[in-house]
Amino acid sequence: MKPRDRLRIAMQKSGRLTEPALELLNRCGLTFRQSRDKLFCFGEGEPVDLLLVRDDDIPGLIAQGVCDLGIVGRNVLSEFQLTAGTEAAPLAEWRKLGFGRCRLSLAVPQDLNYELPGQLEGMRIATSYPGLLGDWLARQGVKAGVVTLAGSVEIAPRLGTADLICDLVQSGGTLVANQLREADVLLESEAVLAGPAVLPTDERGDMIDLLLKRLDGVIQVRE
Ligand code: PRP
Ligand code: ZN
Ligand code: MG
Repeated sequence: MKPRDRLRIAMQKSGRLTEPALELLNRCGLTFRQSRDKLFCFGEGEPVDLLLVRDDDIPGLIAQGVCDLGIVGRNVLSEFQLTAGTEAAPLAEWRKLGFGRCRLSLAVPQDLNYELPGQLEGMRIATSYPGLLGDWLARQGVKAGVVTLAGSVEIAPRLGTADLICDLVQSGGTLVANQLREADVLLESEAVLAGPAVLPTDERGDMIDLLLKRLDGVIQVRE
């Protein structure tokens, strides 16, 4: 890949993190020629551009060097770290950003009486996070079936394709609407600034340093 002289940050194209992520970057003094329908937003003042993509693609884009940084949920970053394999460039969480708080939880049908992870032995759990769920099950010493679904995980128990689910919970509205009850928390999540574990030492590294300093100022003011 040929070196770029502008920094490129990946963020969610449309979703819960989009608005607060843009607002945070604005507070850091970054403004963009807004073209929401486009995938690429050109930075006006500083040499920093945005790539608007699906959140699940953000860690991979950083690992491939297509983007230098990303604003993404810790859940998505951690899942990538657990499943990407050893060939992928290692990533790191550089800052937690204080918005998009949610948790990755087990949720069970109302009639399933969950008390301990051991009860899950032999059960089927539907999730979009097989890495995080598999890691948690292994740490609990529980052998359960993991049914991986890209979306609409909450419907799996009613369809009979799983006994329970492992999915993100924010307001809890989705669980209520699907007659599910939160039973255990696997991961507390929020939006984070993700990047390579080893930051570049060229001009882009200097720009990242500057951005981190500004972020720290903005995040401190907000706390
Ligand atoms: C998550 C999750 C649930 C919902 C939970 O999906 O998969 O569907 O949010 O939120 P609630 O507790 O406030 O109802 P999200 O909207 O992030 O979209 P995605 O699954 O397509 O990434
Ligand atoms: Zn997603
Ligand atoms: Mg969803």
